[in-house]
Amino acid sequence: MSITIGTPLQSSAFKVLLLGSGELGKEVVISLQRLGVEVHAADRYADAPAMQVAHFHYCLDMTDPSALKKLIDNIQPHLIVPEIEAIATEVLLEVEQAQLATVIPSAKAVNLTMHREGIRLLAAEELGLATSAYRFADSLESFRAACDDIGYPNFVKPVMSSSGKGQSQVKSFAEVDAAWQHAQTAGRVQGCKVIVEAKIDFDFEITLLTVRAKNPETGAIETHFCDPIGHRQDGGDYVESWQPQAMTAIALAEAQRIADKVTTALGGCGVFGVELFVKGDQVWFSEVSPRPHDTGLVTLASQYQSEFELHARAILGLPVNTARHSTAASAVIYAGVDGTNLAFADLQLALQDPRTDLRLFAKPEGFQKRRMGVVTARAENTDQARQLAAQAAALVSVKAPSA
Ligand SMILES: Nc1ncnc2c1ncn2[C@@H]1O[C@H](COP(=O)(O)OP(=O)(O)OP(=O)(O)O)[C@@H](O)[C@H]1O
Ligand SMILES: [Mg+2]
Repeated sequence: MSITIGTPLQSSAFKVLLLGSGELGKEVVISLQRLGVEVHAADRYADAPAMQVAHFHYCLDMTDPSALKKLIDNIQPHLIVPEIEAIATEVLLEVEQAQLATVIPSAKAVNLTMHREGIRLLAAEELGLATSAYRFADSLESFRAACDDIGYPNFVKPVMSSSGKGQSQVKSFAEVDAAWQHAQTAGRVQGCKVIVEAKIDFDFEITLLTVRAKNPETGAIETHFCDPIGHRQDGGDYVESWQPQAMTAIALAEAQRIADKVTTALGGCGVFGVELFVKGDQVWFSEVSPRPHDTGLVTLASQYQSEFELHARAILGLPVNTARHSTAASAVIYAGVDGTNLAFADLQLALQDPRTDLRLFAKPEGFQKRRMGVVTARAENTDQARQLAAQAAALVSVKAPSA
């Protein structure tokens, strides 16, 4: 069945409800707006980035099932597009079951990936994909045993967390209790279970953006891959990314095989960010986002259709093109200060080189390590692009208002 897009704000409107309104959602909204979609954006705080470019916006606790259900009933969207993991996903399962709206990419995908245990068991046990060795623990005692079992160094992550929150690398038994404390206090949910993962000694890590989209002629869902994106993380948060990441033909084929397997199991249409560790020809599955990925911001500069446009097209049932036209990199701009009403200066310096571009996310509040913007840069090769992007990002100065 082909899609018809009506007129926003009129009865024929094709409505999308975005759950989570951060910087990635903002770019998805812009892509949807360009296609004439009526966009409703929700988040837990006012003036979130995607809200500023949507037709309608709502502030609510999206982990509250009754508040979320009420919102969906009021809007009656055609599509529900989760942008973050902290959502009452049981409501999405219910909505999908009752065919009230289509959940992107599928309620199952959103439900499994919000929880490290769900996706890890699917990948490692059901699909038989290579992952780091792992154990789960829900008490200090079982955590100590899990750490000893897995060995050191290892990575500890709350099962409900993202962007490095509550994570630590544990180098020896002496650090075990502190890692437990950190996971309990800094994770998204208090008193939550953790995963202990053996450290993979990789050469590099990639995000393989994988798009599941309908072939308009046959109606069958096909899988498309973007070129691999290399990235560097600091404390579990992305600092810079580049595309393409060079890798062996064998490793690339294995990465695509893994991505195809895991995204097929999750189902639905849209962009998935498949995170993989690579060493020579060997590839391990790490995790997957059933939506555009932060490291994929580089595609704003490198591809004909950025990951955000690809997501918009795929969820609307339109054809996609994952081809890359340039080699590019992205570098994150952090607030570096705490506070509201921040000002961004020296932008002309960052943009002096014509190969650079800038996005400021317009977040209402910043703190030291909060991502406030990104610079992208195109160049002959990824080393040059990374250098250019990092230099330009460093030139942006973020100022707190003077008292
Ligand atoms: N088992 C591991 N071996 C080696 N490095 C790891 C391992 N697990 C995590 N890391 C490192 O920590 C980073 C963050 O881990 P992970 O992606 O699981 O956390 P996250 O909180 O989901 O981060 P994000 O939300 O930014 O993707 C990885 O990209 C990788 O650099
Ligand atoms: Mg990750």
